[in-house]
Amino acid sequence: MSERSELQGKHIVLGLTGGIACYKSAEFVRLLTKAGATVQVVMTEAAEAFITPVTMQALSGRPVVTSQWDAREPNNMAHINLSREADAIVLAPASADFIARLVQGRADELLSLMCLARPRETCPLLVAPAMNREMWSHPATQRNVAQLAQDGALILGPGCGDQACGEVGDGRMLEPEELLADLIAFFQPKVLRGHRLLITAGPTFEPIDPVRGITNHSSGKMGFALARAAREAGADVTLVAGPVHLPTPRGVQRRNVTTAQQMYDTVLPLAAEHDVFIATAAVADWRPATSAEHKIKKEGKKTVPSFELTENPDILAAVAALPAPPYCVGFAAESEHLLEHARAKLARKKIPLIVGNLGPATFGRDDNALLLVDASDHQALPPDGSRADKLTLARSLMQELAQRLQAVKTA
Ligand code: CTP
Repeated sequence: MSERSELQGKHIVLGLTGGIACYKSAEFVRLLTKAGATVQVVMTEAAEAFITPVTMQALSGRPVVTSQWDAREPNNMAHINLSREADAIVLAPASADFIARLVQGRADELLSLMCLARPRETCPLLVAPAMNREMWSHPATQRNVAQLAQDGALILGPGCGDQACGEVGDGRMLEPEELLADLIAFFQPKVLRGHRLLITAGPTFEPIDPVRGITNHSSGKMGFALARAAREAGADVTLVAGPVHLPTPRGVQRRNVTTAQQMYDTVLPLAAEHDVFIATAAVADWRPATSAEHKIKKEGKKTVPSFELTENPDILAAVAALPAPPYCVGFAAESEHLLEHARAKLARKKIPLIVGNLGPATFGRDDNALLLVDASDHQALPPDGSRADKLTLARSLMQELAQRLQAVKTA
């Protein structure tokens, strides 16, 4: 599934209230529509002081609604009609004043009236606060936000950083890309809520000297997609990443490492705090026995240098051998005989599940085809043996994992 279709079929009512962050809402609408959503913008009078309804209409392709007395609505009940059609109401930006109004259940202008009148079971409310850091940290705002969350709203952010007023701190509205990621995540089923997942991803890099090393073609994309999918499914996620240049999925704790030994040293103490371990990393099996302190120079040498290799620790096998191991999932990147090799690894590492894939057909690519192998069975993912993008595969794998964890619990 591409980012384009992530929100296909979803109808979002986007409420803007008075704040300089309204300029980011224009970009947010663009991202929402690119992701396949239809967007109905509703603006308060204060929002109109920051951005015009003309801009928002042009971007959303729909007339903006600003008043509860809008005579275009045949029944004159914009507040009812708007929320009955919506899959979610997103308030971005939500000002301190507007949050206070929501907490009080005010209904004297369209946006607060619509939020109050929304069917809470079917139309969730997501609120992205945007304000100065002093306003955000004020006990009144903190009290209001806590109450709003208790009343069932999901609070997105706020972010931290430079503010329009020149101050620096908490209170910035999340960036449009962050809002989009949070909204996409919101719609994913929370099949892993309450679980803690530890995931390794990417290659390792084993230095030969300060400028060279041994590594492999792993891009980290599959492991990062798994971390994102696990987080979207409601899990707490720690991602131990080898050297890759990929952004950290939202809400995921990331630990960067370079060598296999560093990955081992980072993973082992963390393993006990997690109930699932997924080893996606393409860990180098060997490293140079010694790493030169300075660059090995060609200059003046008649022979090519040679160096000895020594074995790296097997992280997955070590975690699986812990007294109370998490549920361990290994990956097998092979170039041939996928099922046979995956089965052998399952037994050798003493783990319940191996995900096999063909290395040359996955490294660096955005799509993949997986083979799930356990002690008694194997199944292709996608089930028809075709290829799918890595995020779609990761989401399917999380569903599968949730079922297997449930089966272990009830066994
Ligand atoms: N793995 C690991 N630590 C290592 C080597 C591998 O944790 N030192 C994990 C990988 O993350 C993967 C699984 O073990 O989940 C299988 O990795 P792979 O390199 O395919 O297997 P190897 O055990 O190295 O076997 P071989 O090289 O013979 O294919």
